Amino acid sequence: MSAPQGSSEQSSTIDALLQETRRFPPSAEFTANANVRDPSVYQRAKDDPEGFWAEAANRLDWFQRWEKVLEWDAPWAKWYVGGKLNASYNAVDRHVKTWRRNKAAIIWEGEPGDSRVLTYRDLYREVNTFAAVLKELGVSKGDRVAFYMPMIPELAIGLLACARIGAPHTVIFGGFSSEALRDRCNDSGAKLVVTADGGWRRGNVVPLKDTTDAAVAETPTVEHVLVVQRVGPSVREVTMQEGRDIWYHEMAAKVGRKIIEPEPLDSEHPLYIMYTSGTTGKPKGQLHTTGGYLVGASLTHEWIFDLKEDDIYWCTADIGWVTGHSYIVYGPFTNGASVVMYEGAPDFPDKDRFWDIVEKYGVTILYTAPTSIRTFMRWGEQYPAMHDLSTLRVMGTVGEPINPEAWMWYNEHIGHGRAPIVDTWWQTETGMILITPLPGIVATKPGSGTFPFPGIEADILDEAGNPVPVNTGGNLVIKRPWPAMSRTIWGDPERYKRTYWERYPGLYLTGDGARRDEDGYYWLLGRVDDVLNVSGHRIGTMEVESALVSHPAVAEAAVIGASDPLTGQAIVAFVTPRSGQSPNDALQADLREHVVKHIGALARPKKIYFTTELPKTRSAKIMRRLLRDIAEGRVLGDTTTLLDPNIVSQIKEQYESTEG
Ligand code: PRX
Repeated sequence: MSAPQGSSEQSSTIDALLQETRRFPPSAEFTANANVRDPSVYQRAKDDPEGFWAEAANRLDWFQRWEKVLEWDAPWAKWYVGGKLNASYNAVDRHVKTWRRNKAAIIWEGEPGDSRVLTYRDLYREVNTFAAVLKELGVSKGDRVAFYMPMIPELAIGLLACARIGAPHTVIFGGFSSEALRDRCNDSGAKLVVTADGGWRRGNVVPLKDTTDAAVAETPTVEHVLVVQRVGPSVREVTMQEGRDIWYHEMAAKVGRKIIEPEPLDSEHPLYIMYTSGTTGKPKGQLHTTGGYLVGASLTHEWIFDLKEDDIYWCTADIGWVTGHSYIVYGPFTNGASVVMYEGAPDFPDKDRFWDIVEKYGVTILYTAPTSIRTFMRWGEQYPAMHDLSTLRVMGTVGEPINPEAWMWYNEHIGHGRAPIVDTWWQTETGMILITPLPGIVATKPGSGTFPFPGIEADILDEAGNPVPVNTGGNLVIKRPWPAMSRTIWGDPERYKRTYWERYPGLYLTGDGARRDEDGYYWLLGRVDDVLNVSGHRIGTMEVESALVSHPAVAEAAVIGASDPLTGQAIVAFVTPRSGQSPNDALQADLREHVVKHIGALARPKKIYFTTELPKTRSAKIMRRLLRDIAEGRVLGDTTTLLDPNIVSQIKEQYESTEG
């Protein structure tokens, strides 16, 4: 890991952000009606964090009340020890017992313009049927189920059905390749894969079933593939392998209307595994469990988005990422919210699709990513201007630092200055938002995540473990456990311990750099490890490097993230071809596709530079920092420790000539 306070990248980010002095306090009207309007909540939670989290647990229905709020044997946490509950019961059944039974749970919009509304009562029926199908296929408590799906209601239904019977799910984002799907199925030991005959994206069908077929050819634990019919045979025929592949609708018709009682599960029963990139080539399966996760996801959802009974809430993420798990499925349904779900692209059929959806359903809360906002900015304000967005009252961002310019544009052209913006910082590992404004209390500053959520204690440390001075960058850490934290890395507890808990013993290392300003506001500065953030998608440099070196023409590769005005970071690769290979455009194109095949389109390198050698220290460590300096046009740092200092100037020349 590089030292954030010494890095030229971070200090230039800090310099730019120090010029940001605008403040946006909540309006008196907003505060008067806000769910959380008493600032003393921060102090109360600080004085008695366990008491705070104990009280928060009352928001759930427990089959058996827990005995102890937290058992902490660093880094191993158990929350709500002894409690028994079921996430599906909390997300569905308990609402059906109230007037909410006919409240819209899912308001779904397909990309071609078809739509479906499922009430909580409908959701209850569908989840039960799905759970019955899972049982029919031999899935039982503890078995893992993989999902490789488009954004259709059956994805949310399927997850809740798994939760109902205690089968942990693992969702693999539909943009990942068959190899990525295969590796995640194998790592989790999935028994079943749920997919669809396709999903709509920009007018085309994403061939999810074909990709699944390629993956499951090499997944010994997978017994069946359950296929949801989304597009139908007139659009796309899929091949069904006799005995292995089953149509969901056929099986659902067979099991009929069945009620599957929700399994009373231990508070620490695994709810799901979510894979995320780290600093090695192998993604880490973050394990989230039931009680603590559900408390964290639902409380943050209600407080941060100021959720009211009549809100229409839309999070534009894909359920294939943690954002979709916590803030499309588990948080919102546990809170009995009406959730908008959209299948497709923001520019289909035209660039106003999001605003059309906001207007069509009267969306009141919108949660999206800075990359999307920057894309909308580029498309122009005429698109949102075509629609009535006056229902919007709270807007969120997540996934990467938001630049103040994009924040201001969001505020002006989408929220029309009426809707507070919550810039929410968190991670796959944290399960819930940890740094964020509470919209009725906190005056926001464009680009700042403001303060840790009540009950969360954060700090920013230097290399020696001391808190850094005001406006100085350092490593962001979380100082005490929180309920939705990842419990371990699936199958590799040692790695969990090593990655997060050893750098500063007993403190959680986020891998992000941050600074605090003179008012105590947190400003996130991006990753300080070898993890990239491209359009809010997390990708490890090592994953891309391993993909590149698996190509027969490649001897060596180094990958870095270069700042990109649209995607935040862009993947730039420096590749040394094997002798006899000519570094030409055809090879470049081939390498790009090779990475896509190994990982998925989200990891396609934006630029590939060929070099005769890579800059290395005398101990043969690739100096990515120097490559980053070259790519960002910075003055080169110290090169005296390099094996061959001339290499850098050669690469620099080549970089600048092709940049031209
Ligand atoms: O670098 C931080 C960035 O995204 C990383 C987590 O990525 P992932 O696990 O894929 O989860 C994304 C959605 C929660 C973090 O380490 N990040 C996330 N939100 C923000 C952010 N950076 C700055 N500001 C944010 N609001």
